[in-house]
Amino acid sequence: MTDNPLNLGLESRKEAPPFVIFIFGVTGDLTARKLMPALFSLYLKGMTRFKVVGFARRDWGTDGLRERARGMIEEVPGASDEQRETFLGRLEYLQSTFEDPAGYARMSEYAEGYANRIYYLSTPPDSYRDIIDQLGRHGHGEQAGGFTRILIEKPFGRDFASAQELNQLLARYFTEGQIFRIDHYLGKETVQNIMLLRFGNGMFEPIWNSNYVDHIQITVAEKIGVGTRGGYFEGAGTLRDMVQNHMFQLLSLTTMEPPNDLSAQSIRNEKVKAMQAVRPITFRDINEHAVRAQYDEGIVDGAPVPAYRDEDRVSPDSRTETYVALRLFLDTWRWSGVPIFLRSGKRLLRKVSEISVHFREPPRQLFTNRHPAMNRNTLIIRIQPDEGITLNMNAKIPGHTTDMRPVNMDFAYGSTFGEATLEAYERLLYDAILGDATLYPRRDEIESSWAFITRVLEGWRRDSSPIPTYMPGSSGPEEARRLIASSNRKWRKL
Ligand SMILES: NC(=O)c1ccc[n+]([C@@H]2O[C@H](COP(=O)([O-])OP(=O)(O)OC[C@H]3O[C@@H](n4cnc5c(N)ncnc54)[C@H](OP(=O)(O)O)[C@@H]3O)[C@@H](O)[C@H]2O)c1
Repeated sequence: MTDNPLNLGLESRKEAPPFVIFIFGVTGDLTARKLMPALFSLYLKGMTRFKVVGFARRDWGTDGLRERARGMIEEVPGASDEQRETFLGRLEYLQSTFEDPAGYARMSEYAEGYANRIYYLSTPPDSYRDIIDQLGRHGHGEQAGGFTRILIEKPFGRDFASAQELNQLLARYFTEGQIFRIDHYLGKETVQNIMLLRFGNGMFEPIWNSNYVDHIQITVAEKIGVGTRGGYFEGAGTLRDMVQNHMFQLLSLTTMEPPNDLSAQSIRNEKVKAMQAVRPITFRDINEHAVRAQYDEGIVDGAPVPAYRDEDRVSPDSRTETYVALRLFLDTWRWSGVPIFLRSGKRLLRKVSEISVHFREPPRQLFTNRHPAMNRNTLIIRIQPDEGITLNMNAKIPGHTTDMRPVNMDFAYGSTFGEATLEAYERLLYDAILGDATLYPRRDEIESSWAFITRVLEGWRRDSSPIPTYMPGSSGPEEARRLIASSNRKWRKL
């Protein structure tokens, strides 16, 4: 065990049972950057009884996998050479294509001695069907004297119908309790803290409603463009890539009712209720409530950057959006009439994910000497980077007047808790190993968010007007400014 004064290790949690994890797509980018370091970090914290079987096409062999995995875990701190070698000794490689039944027939021999089995699908989404079907046909969904669980990466479907179809296929071989759909945002400390902030403190929840909240903004902005991922992004777009999953998870955690208890079932019941309350956007008023745009060419940090349509493996007449802004309403007692604005885009001014809750102004304005920057009290939950929470309020400027200006009360994870925030994948993997599905979206959550998103996609498909553009390094398109201005609000500065 590592010395961990903050108890971010596994000491306070249940002990992991012995298990074998099959990683489909072990030669891929996600395994190298996230999964292998997360497994190694768990091993260092005391999760010792397991074996990893990598399943992929390339001719690596077990020795090749171990050799490469040494590089993947290189940057995990606090490990001795002996610990590294022991961990690497737990890895084995099963070379096969996802389509070939022979690979699945050999899985049992690799799982020999392990009653508990986990399958992690870290593969191109086109392969999910084949893998699930083959696993099922080979009886790998069955649980005999232990558990069997399946973890599936995002994207989970590309619209309502395909998500439903994938869920139906999964349900043919696995029960809902065996299925863990990954949304790595839920593994972030700052996202989990939304519930603790709301329900672990007495002062926020009484004012967390339409009587006191004027509106809410949720922002997920990226500074980078599509880079080398143009081929993938062309078939996705920001609405599918960011809004359907991460942003809808932030939305439901921010707006849900308090759960009866902390069980996965209670929490997910409340989240799905919130999602189901999002008022659908009709085809007729889509342009009033939804904005899409693409980044243009420009200069970022002194260097020229291409327009989205000129990126590698992007069609020159692409209609895929790299920016989305939405105005939503939740038809619930608590949120009636409160607009919720979502925006997400690439190549924006800076990288930031945050939720801001903007409170109503005082009923009567006694202090008329308003600072130009003065605004409504705002609670800002910074998901990343610079993780923390800020309460923005107005205070008297020292002196003989009653002049005011905005000031901040700040909580920063970095300075309060030190460096020790947990990697999202480490938390999510350990939860799945323990069978705790709280941080994994349930079937009905996924399908409700897709139901909403699919209507927007369909509305856009029917609309052939030109796609607006925005300047790289800006805050987004003029159309998004107009969307929020038509509600007499403005976006928080990026
Ligand atoms: N990368 C990220 O940062 C990231 C972040 C969030 C979510 N995700 C999701 O995670 C999943 C994996 O992403 P990735 O970036 O790791 O993908 P990737 O680098 O393209 O890796 C794909 C993996 O699948 C294997 N594969 C593909 N087709 C195969 C076939 N027919 N038979 C056998 N193996 C096959 C590849 O094996 P060979 O190389 O041996 O052919 C490789 O191991 C995707 O669903 C992605 O959306 C990724």
